[in-house]
Amino acid sequence: MGDTAMVVSPHPLASEVGLDILKKGGNAVDAAVAVQFALAVVYPRAGNIGGGGFMVIRFEDGSTDAIDYREKAPLAAERDMYLDSAGDVISGLSTLGHLAVGVPGTVDGLIRAHKKHGKLDFASLIEPAIQLADKGYQLTITEAERISRFQQGFQDANTVKNVFMRDTFLEGHLLVQKDLAHTLQLIRDNGREGFYAGETADKIVAEMQRGKGLIALEDLAQYEAQWRRPIKGSYKNFNIISMPPSSSGGVALLQMLEMIEPYPIAEWGPRDLRTVHLLTEAERRAYADRAEHMGDTDFYDVPLDRLLDSAYLDSRMLDFSMDSATVSEAIVAGDFKLLKESFETTHTSIVDAEGNAVSLTTTLNSNFGSKVMVGDAGFFLNNEMDDFSAKPGVPNQFGLVGTEANAIQPGKRMLSSMTPTIVEKDGALFLVLGAPGGSTIITAVFQVFLNVAEFGMDLSEAVDAGRFHHQWLPDVIAVEKGTFSPELIEQMEALGHEFREVDRMAVIKAIHVKEDGTLHGVGDRRNPDDDAKGY
Ligand code: DON
Repeated sequence: MGDTAMVVSPHPLASEVGLDILKKGGNAVDAAVAVQFALAVVYPRAGNIGGGGFMVIRFEDGSTDAIDYREKAPLAAERDMYLDSAGDVISGLSTLGHLAVGVPGTVDGLIRAHKKHGKLDFASLIEPAIQLADKGYQLTITEAERISRFQQGFQDANTVKNVFMRDTFLEGHLLVQKDLAHTLQLIRDNGREGFYAGETADKIVAEMQRGKGLIALEDLAQYEAQWRRPIKGSYKNFNIISMPPSSSGGVALLQMLEMIEPYPIAEWGPRDLRTVHLLTEAERRAYADRAEHMGDTDFYDVPLDRLLDSAYLDSRMLDFSMDSATVSEAIVAGDFKLLKESFETTHTSIVDAEGNAVSLTTTLNSNFGSKVMVGDAGFFLNNEMDDFSAKPGVPNQFGLVGTEANAIQPGKRMLSSMTPTIVEKDGALFLVLGAPGGSTIITAVFQVFLNVAEFGMDLSEAVDAGRFHHQWLPDVIAVEKGTFSPELIEQMEALGHEFREVDRMAVIKAIHVKEDGTLHGVGDRRNPDDDAKGY
């Protein structure tokens, strides 16, 4: 709890960095930049400078902004680059190793965000990360376990040995990252050029050449993060401010909310058959639209107005019946492979002393991305290329399918599900939230918002509550163990729904501004390192 300002991030050391910046008079954007650089050091499985992300900002006067620093396909990328001569997807090519890497956007995004909205000196924001890399920090048990678990991937994907490659990592191990400290210093001293040109760029390109990857100097020189107009919509007396393409998150969230708005779910309750069935059916429809219509708006004419049109969304629910599940047309069954692995993106929610809010999600995609670390530069590269649709109808690692809208093109951004979101209630700041969790991010944000807004849950309860997820294909509800009673599952099955139990899905980090102005920050029990710090 805090009276003044709050940071929620996936790691205590990063939250501490953010809190310090806020106490020094930095605003929410300053803190977000500092936290993201710190996460690149202390949360290497997802925090990054070799990946990309999105930041949504709401200033205390109600104005908003958003920046898209999602990765791009390299200029040498080709539509069918992951297919064999028979036209089938080659397993693993878009997820492991050099060909999986998209052109990183994080450094340009953070620098632009700071230039436009920051208050403190850039060097002071990146310095804590440099110190953490240079002096080292002690691994938490979760991280030690994670780094140990991915040793094989590191061995398979790397051309140069690095500090992450050794037999055992234990809790308390001091992880010193001198190469990363040096790269961060280059960024501190040279800004964007410290990453996209000169020594770092040369190292990235050399790494690509050793591993037959595609990124060239020109890709790096040309990379630019984009300012976007946030996606906005309303649900009853709430305004939702979220991320437009190249994420699908904001659009899908607004679609689902609009589809369910006419129904009295508060009266029904969160675990009532009618509520669960209705939310599932709204999710199914939004993800079907995602698969068909959504991609990078710089390359594809996404029918945004149409997708968010009330009449259209009403019509989407015309075939909704309280008595039976709709059948998702079976194109190709996806699967939930990664749901068995774990979700590693990072989300950070921040409110500063003036009431400005930032919701920021950033990722390498899988744990440690492509597992490739840039030789002698100390940072992992993403495997975001897997978020493209490698072939129409063939599911990616999240079981998501896509079509032309999200086909690979040189310089195009791959479609994301990241949903950094800010909510107003009666015009005032109410919630800041987001999550890692691949395709399950959007439904998690949807359900946590409803838990607070409709079901009157306290934010911790809302985040802790079990979640369920339907993404059109595969035509199955993924549900966290213990979420539904056996009776509810039986009733849902009688309507024609199928279930698959999973351990956990998206991992929410959120801040609730209570009526008396108190800030309630909440990390998620699903990640033991999640940490809220406020004052
Ligand atoms: O942008 C996306 O939707 C994914 N690359 C996010 C990846 C993610 O959340 C990883 N965690 N499961």
